[in-house]
Amino acid sequence: MKATAKAHTNIALIKYWGKRDESLILPMNNSLSLTLDGFYTTTTVEFKPDLTDDCFYLDDEAVVDTQYDRVSNFLKLIRNYAGKDNLFAEVHSTNHVPTAAGFASSASGFAALAAAAARALNLNIDDKTLSTLTRQGSGSACRSIYGGFVEWEKGEQADGSDSHAVPIAPANHWDIRVAAVVLSSNAKKVLSREGMKRTVETSPFYSSWVDSIPNDLNQIKDGIKNKDFEKVGAIAEMNCLKMHATTLAANPPFSYWHDTTMAVMHAVQELRESGISAYFTIDAGPNVKVLYLPGDENTLKQSLREIPGVHDVIVSKAGQGISYL
Ligand code: PMV
Repeated sequence: MKATAKAHTNIALIKYWGKRDESLILPMNNSLSLTLDGFYTTTTVEFKPDLTDDCFYLDDEAVVDTQYDRVSNFLKLIRNYAGKDNLFAEVHSTNHVPTAAGFASSASGFAALAAAAARALNLNIDDKTLSTLTRQGSGSACRSIYGGFVEWEKGEQADGSDSHAVPIAPANHWDIRVAAVVLSSNAKKVLSREGMKRTVETSPFYSSWVDSIPNDLNQIKDGIKNKDFEKVGAIAEMNCLKMHATTLAANPPFSYWHDTTMAVMHAVQELRESGISAYFTIDAGPNVKVLYLPGDENTLKQSLREIPGVHDVIVSKAGQGISYL
């Protein structure tokens, strides 16, 4: 009743922004991401008959706060699915996701947790079912079950049974890279959960966001298929700006950007004018991720590092889906 799994984080090119069901974590819109090789979590789950509660260690330290509650609530769900409600687990997770890089380590974290727990319980489930379960731990994590380009289908059912990820193209389809630009100071964060809720409830731009998704998805999938970097990059950048625009019109309004975020955005647009094909995207935080092709890696890294307020630039290739160790 013990298993270890490894999962990579992912970066959304078409963002998941807004839930139609908060407790089941059902999104308003489909989203599409690239799984990243450079950032991952490994998790060991062992169910032990003598335990009276779950315990969770992150990077060798016992966790007791809300992070523990999220892990334990998720284990409860998996236990219930397996019909073993009274079996508790010891969980050890190691994050190879620099928190400063501003990637949601919850994506790799919940994907690795779900995969390890399902295997430890001998659940014979396919990746689609695993993705459906993972979604209930953290939405974006359901995409990390698969490698390469992945779409999360929002689904239509009220019980969430058809809301899961599907693979679009494997990691080796196309060598497209992502640079995580780490900023030296991070602004106070509105958690994605709170940010989404406020936007859905109050932003007059929100319905336009939802309406614009099907076209963005069609276009970007076409670009991925044909390896059209300019097309994929331009749609990802525009989709990111649209998502962030919805937050500016929320009540009270908010933004995840600070001055260095905007400096990096401008620098990327200027790099493009000078002939380097690069496009940015930003999640629910101030850090910027830049999409580029391998031939531009050195120039791009150097240019990004020179921007005042940039602390580091960490690059990554496309990554694989979950694996078991
Ligand atoms: O799954 P969460 O709660 O970490 O939300 C992720 C939301 C964004 O990162 C902003 C977009 C996305 O699709 O990953």
